[in-house]
Amino acid sequence: MTRTVSSTAVGIVGGGPAGLMLSHLLQLSGIESVVIETRTRDEIEHTHRAGILERDSVRMLVDSGVSDRVLRDGHEHQGIALRFGGVSHRIDFQGLVGASTWLYPQTDVFMDLAAARERDGGDVRYAVTDTSVVDVTSDRPAMLFTDSDGMRHEVRCPVLVGADGSRSMTRDSVQDRTEYFRQYPFAWFGILCEAPPSAPELIYTRSERGFALVSQRTDAIQRLYFQCSPEESVDDWPEDRIWSELQARLAGEDGFVLTEGRIFDKSVLPFRSYVCEPMRHGNLLLAGDAAHTVPPTGAKGLNLALADVRVLAEVLERAVLKNDRSALDEYTGRALARVWKAQHFSYWMTTMLHALPDASDFDVRRQLGELSSVVGSEHGRRFLAEAYTGWPA
Ligand code: PHB
Repeated sequence: MTRTVSSTAVGIVGGGPAGLMLSHLLQLSGIESVVIETRTRDEIEHTHRAGILERDSVRMLVDSGVSDRVLRDGHEHQGIALRFGGVSHRIDFQGLVGASTWLYPQTDVFMDLAAARERDGGDVRYAVTDTSVVDVTSDRPAMLFTDSDGMRHEVRCPVLVGADGSRSMTRDSVQDRTEYFRQYPFAWFGILCEAPPSAPELIYTRSERGFALVSQRTDAIQRLYFQCSPEESVDDWPEDRIWSELQARLAGEDGFVLTEGRIFDKSVLPFRSYVCEPMRHGNLLLAGDAAHTVPPTGAKGLNLALADVRVLAEVLERAVLKNDRSALDEYTGRALARVWKAQHFSYWMTTMLHALPDASDFDVRRQLGELSSVVGSEHGRRFLAEAYTGWPA
């Protein structure tokens, strides 16, 4: 089969938020890139993902000129609640650290980035197949793929970036990598329903029946989650059963009641903690979920991917424009410093709020003691607020 050979400065495998944001930032610095993505644009626009942006993620979208839609259609949250023992305790982000987060789903972040790439003439090839990366330790690595018209391509570039998500194919080329895992004996059952928000901010709830999270999407749509077994089947959960489980987990002496409505989406989201070290091999650099995943309890996944990209754009600018190849050596260390903080925070929020299947009475009381010590101390609340809204870059 004939193959079209071309070249660019940076080849990016993966057209999710990390890949597209990187391509956007590189263009601002005058660096050309080609992005390849196996899904169609429409498929990505119809995938439900988490929805919380840290302050600096919002700034990145707005200040780099992607879009300011987040400021209009997103919802600023000045705090969250931790709920346990049937009582909610507010963590006042603004009062504690002078920062907010924004409820703005990843799908919208993707749509803004995809529109910006199109507007600015970015080269993004969706729906490609048979992708691979080759020669990553040489000075001319390449991405190989078949485009949506069935044409075979080889794009040569001095640097490749693997931003191809948690099932990353590019990661396999990082030889001698060490992989750090933590599995959890539970998953999240997520629903979308036609009901107005039950609360203006997020409620992270610990109950004897397990964790629950009250989130929102729009004035008419709620996003709710509850802890379940990783083997749970959505078919075993008719609407009535879902509502009685959620109401039971959120019930308390303050009389809190969830608003209910038709459920139009149900899914089970298994999760784990994962880090790949190093995040670079030769001229291939990994970013976002390809290099690390976190449980969703701290809302860090997308924010961490964007933080990688911030470092990566700066390092690539020096490597490509100033021909300073040593800049690439800095990437893993700088990115991982934040990754491990986020790993700790996500693990901590997860274990503090979920019911562990084999927990003893001691474990249960210790967990409640932990929650009380966080909400009962300004230092505890500030630690949480600083991590949740995002450490400064
Ligand atoms: C969501 O709204 O999808 C969401 C919010 C906060 C999380 C996870 C998911 O920690």
